[in-house]
Amino acid sequence: MCGIIGYVGEGDVKQIIEEGLSKLEYRGYDSAGIAKVLENKIFCKKEVEGIKKLFSGFESFDNVNAGMGHTRWATHGAVSEKNAHPHLCCEGEIAVVHNGIIENHKEIRDSLGQHDYISETDSEVAAHFIEEKMKEGKTILEALEALRDVIEGTFAILVVKRAEEKIFVCKEKSPIALGIGENGNYVASDIYAFSGFTERSIFLEDGDLAVVEQNSLKIFDKKGNIVERQIKDFEWEERRDLDDEHDHHMIREIQEQPDAVKRLLDSYETFQKEFFEEIAEKINSSDKIIITGSGSSFHSSMVGAKLLRDIGINARAIVASEFDETDVMEDTVVLAVSQSGETMDVLDAIDVADEIGCDILSIVNVPHSSIQRKSDISIEILAGQEICVASTKTFTNQLVTFYLICKELGKDIKFEKLVEDIEKTLERNQEISKAVAKNIKDENDLYVLGRNKYFPIAKEIALKLKEISYIHAEGLRGGELKHGTLALIEEGTPVVSLIPEKDSGIVSNVEEVESRGAKSLRTSPFYGCFELPESDFLPILFSITGFILTYHTAYEKDLPIDKPRNLAKSVTVR
Ligand code: M6R
Repeated sequence: MCGIIGYVGEGDVKQIIEEGLSKLEYRGYDSAGIAKVLENKIFCKKEVEGIKKLFSGFESFDNVNAGMGHTRWATHGAVSEKNAHPHLCCEGEIAVVHNGIIENHKEIRDSLGQHDYISETDSEVAAHFIEEKMKEGKTILEALEALRDVIEGTFAILVVKRAEEKIFVCKEKSPIALGIGENGNYVASDIYAFSGFTERSIFLEDGDLAVVEQNSLKIFDKKGNIVERQIKDFEWEERRDLDDEHDHHMIREIQEQPDAVKRLLDSYETFQKEFFEEIAEKINSSDKIIITGSGSSFHSSMVGAKLLRDIGINARAIVASEFDETDVMEDTVVLAVSQSGETMDVLDAIDVADEIGCDILSIVNVPHSSIQRKSDISIEILAGQEICVASTKTFTNQLVTFYLICKELGKDIKFEKLVEDIEKTLERNQEISKAVAKNIKDENDLYVLGRNKYFPIAKEIALKLKEISYIHAEGLRGGELKHGTLALIEEGTPVVSLIPEKDSGIVSNVEEVESRGAKSLRTSPFYGCFELPESDFLPILFSITGFILTYHTAYEKDLPIDKPRNLAKSVTVR
């Protein structure tokens, strides 16, 4: 995954890179590094203990006008200083940062002469490749062009050379945006890295090369022609600082849900109405809808598909990483769901669908994201920036979006009580969750039971407990217990069950686990250990209860809630 930021121009280069990297940490936080361009060499520093530590000891980059930084999510090679980017070539003349995967890095390496490799990464080969081509007399741009043509995989690569106040860029599949400033220009994995410094940007397209200088931005397409790409103005409201009320972004984001939902509902009545209408029209005029996403966004897609089926629409959810051409036909409408709008698996699914000629719709949180840019029609869920790796308010708003689409398609859904129901769920379950968290925090395994549209919610709660509380949890279909999984239940096994109605089918499944001695945590508006209002939106309220429980469990265990181990918020590799 990894995040990249570079800047050429006047001003405090150090501050720009430090701020940019902190904003990009959601792309990976295993290690970080910076390079600054000096007259006689490239200065590099790397750190595995966070961005603050990386920059401690630097006052500013005196008299330096060009530099770049990288925050890493390890794919090749352990988390270590030597594997952190930037990577230098043997002579230290140039430095390279890379986001993506160079699948044929071994072949490229074998094709080069003798070079000293320091790291175990796939990325380092890029620095040596460029060095070798420069020795053969090529310019950096020509060397980068040759590199672009030889790499198999995905990449956004930045290169700096000593004594040259320029950043050379190339990209294929991994996103990269240029930022146009007053006294200098930026380049980054996404626009938010330089938001606050400039709000004007250009998105590079696959195969593009670019040269970023203080007063100019040059872009070359695959054929080597200089091209103009559209300048986009953007706005981004940032929420990176924690206030006194919240210890973690996760709980702040959970508490923000009523406002986030209100914002989305208002937009349905106003500026997003036309997109809902257009999406409803597309759905109505197609025989088959495929909804795709990954992780939590796949779970919301499953709920969405069920809600659509309930009103007679032929909709199915397919996990993005397994989506292929057998899933769609030319007249299939594909609806991609993604918080970040950058998930590589979803982008790949869109490419497959696009190739076949399907209409592409999307539901995203991040405006201007790659998925939004590739869609024919896109709805923004307007949850605001989400910093914690776990999706919470964005999952909720994805579900609300599906309910709104169903309303647009003619279902009689009344949203008047929704925000109040969410507020009640949040208020009533904090203390209860703290107590339950104390009770389950030392468990190794936990099961969440759900049926029909509550099964994806059971999976979602289990995913949260795994990623944030480090408890092995599984969402199980209530009706399937007796076909095998009941064997896992023994005296004291914790089982959370999602019971929407007193007489729903799941009750007999709950009794099955209780009679085998399970530690039963019934979740229902009618009885049980959590307090939920009766509501038409129980999938949303159940998930919120699961989010609060997850938060308090991780809190009890003193875990790194916002940045759980091995994960990143935006998954831009396959
Ligand atoms: O940005 P996306 O919604 O496409 O991300 C998909 C998943 O990576 C994401 O939902 C992940 O599962 C979350 N960390 C779950 O909390």
